[in-house]
Amino acid sequence: MARRKKIYEGKAKTLYEGPEPGTIVQYFKDDATAFNAEKKAVIEGKGVLNNLLSEYFMTGLNNIGVPTHFMKRLNMREQLVRSCEIVPLEVIVRNYAAGTMAKRLGMDEGTQLPRPIVEYCLKDDALGDPLVTEEHIAAFGWASQQDMDDILSLALRVNDFLAGVMYGVGIRLVDFKIEIGRVFEGDFQRLIVADEISPDSCRLWDIETGQKLDKDVFRRDLGNLTDAYTEVATRLGVMPKGATPMIRPTLIN
Ligand SMILES: Nc1ncnc2c1ncn2[C@@H]1O[C@H](COP(=O)(O)OP(=O)(O)OP(=O)(O)O)[C@@H](O)[C@H]1O
Ligand SMILES: [Mg+2]
Repeated sequence: MARRKKIYEGKAKTLYEGPEPGTIVQYFKDDATAFNAEKKAVIEGKGVLNNLLSEYFMTGLNNIGVPTHFMKRLNMREQLVRSCEIVPLEVIVRNYAAGTMAKRLGMDEGTQLPRPIVEYCLKDDALGDPLVTEEHIAAFGWASQQDMDDILSLALRVNDFLAGVMYGVGIRLVDFKIEIGRVFEGDFQRLIVADEISPDSCRLWDIETGQKLDKDVFRRDLGNLTDAYTEVATRLGVMPKGATPMIRPTLIN
């Protein structure tokens, strides 16, 4: 069998050349990182859960007319996606104050925001993905004004969809991050939701108890991350039937 070409090895995923031009295979690793990769661990089963959860959210978005890169899941760790040019921004949507926003503005975590607030960070690990304004984005040409209008509308549609899906299973969508990709169709470019949507990139709190079911469990040492993600997957009916219990995490650094 021919060896496939690795395109990119990221912190959480590896990208391989896909079977057709314009496609990519996204392999979900078990690696977890936080605080710009200062904290690292391998968490058995995380890749499988994120692959299944991202498939679930992206399929739902495709079905309601929010375009995403997702084409199909190939196996428990891999999915076929449309290759795109990633806009160098992390697009964050917040419904409740938490994390860096709560810290920056001196707000209590969990404070409901008057409306969803969208923030942009420059995708640059060396700089720690700094917060940028639309002024920076326009002046440095990271995205056009038309792109920004489209990105805002995509982000808010994803927010309404995800918040609704989560509410249905008793989970509060506190915030999330997405990445946007450009695809070219003839003379036109279109923006689509790319990368992943999973508990790695969302804050998810149980509505009743406030229990955290996302990557903060790892960032803040609040318990077993796989158990938290399994809880989300089980509530959404995404857990594969008869899945074997996950092995406990091992710290590697
Ligand atoms: N459809 C796509 N086409 C091309 N690149 C993609 C696509 N979807 C996601 N990517 C990129 O693939 C990489 C996924 O790997 P991973 O999430 O592990 O990266 P990372 O370590 O977080 O690094 P980065 O800072 O680049 O996001 C990211 O760089 C992401 O921007
Ligand atoms: Mg990433």
